[in-house]
Amino acid sequence: MIVHGGAGALPPARRADHAEGCLRAARAGVAVLGAGGSALDATQRAVEVLEDDPRFNAGRGACLTRDGEVELDAAIADGAGPRYGGVCALPPFAHPIAVARAVLEANGHVLYAAHGAREFALRHGFEALSSSALITEAALARWRAVQAGEAEAGWPGGTVGAVAFDGRHLAAATSTGGMMNKHPGRVGDSPIPGAGTVADDAAGAASLTGHGERILQLSLGAWIVAALERGDDPMAVAEAAIARLAARVDGTGGVVLLDRRGRPGWAHNTPSMSRAWVSLDGQEASGA
Ligand code: GLY
Repeated sequence: MIVHGGAGALPPARRADHAEGCLRAARAGVAVLGAGGSALDATQRAVEVLEDDPRFNAGRGACLTRDGEVELDAAIADGAGPRYGGVCALPPFAHPIAVARAVLEANGHVLYAAHGAREFALRHGFEALSSSALITEAALARWRAVQAGEAEAGWPGGTVGAVAFDGRHLAAATSTGGMMNKHPGRVGDSPIPGAGTVADDAAGAASLTGHGERILQLSLGAWIVAALERGDDPMAVAEAAIARLAARVDGTGGVVLLDRRGRPGWAHNTPSMSRAWVSLDGQEASGA
């Protein structure tokens, strides 16, 4: 399993802390695999851990819209099928990735937005929250600084994602609060199939992070899966994808991925990208 806590520009003093958060999430996902859970279950669990962690821009800790509210994007992809479930501009829920999983399992529509996504979540037993339940002091301070013209609006990093292979199937999951001070209703790459989240057992699976508009412009997840389907080396694919993001649309971001044999790749062109890789036989690596 490979996990990320977002590509961005973390101050060096905070990088070990964020890498530790990713490692904790990856271990939780691998524990699910160890107990016989599927790749889909493992990616959902790892992302839920990161959604609960206020250090990351997803779930609790998500950034705010121009109007000071929380709107969440999340998606989960099952390489078997492939199948897909996503929610975008979702009003506050503790675990948007669990709502996305419910969309996938409902096996009807693939993507729900805004009020319709909220209604779907309520109908499936999820508890709606107020924005204040998810807003942290740090996110509020950053939003106030942007509103006062003392800091830049835009993409703050901290999107979270996970990719897993259970020996038979691949899965990928991504969750984010999106961009700081975003226009209400803005949707990034994370919940869009073939952009920020993608999985196909015949090829590989990936979770992207970065400037969502740029990733969307390139359908970068689909490009990655096509390269993995050709059998290209997974680390080379990750590096080529981020090089393409920079060269074609002047984009910044990162990716974690697994190929169809479960071999990992990752890359970013930002100063930092917290990440962790854990295998079922107890090997671990992390960084930021
Ligand atoms: N990559 C996350 C976003 O732009 O919303």
